[in-house]
Amino acid sequence: MEPNMKKVKDKNILIDSFGRRHSYLRISLIEKCNLRCTYCMPANGIPFTPKKNLMSSDEIYEISKLFVKNGVDKIRLTGGEPLLRKDFEEIILKVKTLGTKISLTSNAILIDRHLHYLRKINQLSINVSLDTLNKLKFKEITLRDEFDNTYENILKLIKGGFNLKINVVLIKGFNDNEIIDFIKFSSDHKVMVRFIEFMPFYGNKWDNSRCVSQDQILNLVKSHFGKDSLIKHNNKKNFIAREYSLKNTNSKFGIISTITNPFCDGCNRIRLTANGKIKNCLFSNNEIDILSPMRNGDPYEHLINLTIKNKLHTRAGMDNFKKLNDPNFHSNNRSMIAIGG
Ligand code: 5AD
Ligand code: SF4
Repeated sequence: MEPNMKKVKDKNILIDSFGRRHSYLRISLIEKCNLRCTYCMPANGIPFTPKKNLMSSDEIYEISKLFVKNGVDKIRLTGGEPLLRKDFEEIILKVKTLGTKISLTSNAILIDRHLHYLRKINQLSINVSLDTLNKLKFKEITLRDEFDNTYENILKLIKGGFNLKINVVLIKGFNDNEIIDFIKFSSDHKVMVRFIEFMPFYGNKWDNSRCVSQDQILNLVKSHFGKDSLIKHNNKKNFIAREYSLKNTNSKFGIISTITNPFCDGCNRIRLTANGKIKNCLFSNNEIDILSPMRNGDPYEHLINLTIKNKLHTRAGMDNFKKLNDPNFHSNNRSMIAIGG
């Protein structure tokens, strides 16, 4: 057992048995998406959730309020593609009144229609997925011909001065030959690019040999730019990405190494799915429904506490490579499209 895995008891409902304080709520607003990224959406789709089973904007606000009362100070709106919700503007403006930091994960296809009010949201940060800089490969990985829209909207966000990060899921043989191009993109546009190790979820044909590791990325960067050019930044509190810059360039990049170098020690993240279930880890299939008790007027704070207290230390129990590789572990989980990135 690692030393920080000592069990602790705490009355705050958002502190887990390892003493981790959950101050960052990630809310999925919808399970639908206008792309079909193969690492996210299973080829045969996912079961359709009727709209009435999804949280309404008022319900999202009420649940968020309870979390904020208990110590949440950052909320991310994600999906599926959150901008596909007709009431997205209402949701973000309402949630924003709770006074937390706010962030959005989007594929950017629809973002130009939303810039006019997003611009006015103080401290908004936006993560956009872009796995390739090549139009044909974009279609291959997303199964949709939306590269131009996505790319142009990313440029609009950059021009608009948004606090933006570009997320790139690396898949060996698909886009690992674009790592240097993405670093150049980051330097040219002064935008943070984060490389994400490909993770296993239901239906995404994960296989460790398709995962590009943190070490492989760093070795490539060092051999291309020279090993003295790499500057490692100090890890931020509750970090997800280990961040770097490169001497003599404007490049800033990060690596999210969930597979080869997990960062669960400082995890402060708790997830709420679009159908109102609390998920204590991206990899956990142990979900607790809070939407139904809320609709019935029953208390549900103790359920949030239960799921927090049940949280395991590392990747929902997939604490070694053997378990990560075992489909019995990750295939019982939802697919990423239904979790929320
Ligand atoms: N591995 C790593 N990241 C993933 N995402 C979706 N599926 C995976 C996966 N299998 C990330 C995408 C996007 C967000 C929605 O989730 O990069 O930024
Ligand atoms: Fe949609 Fe994002 Fe999943 Fe791609 S990764 S299908 S953009 S939710």
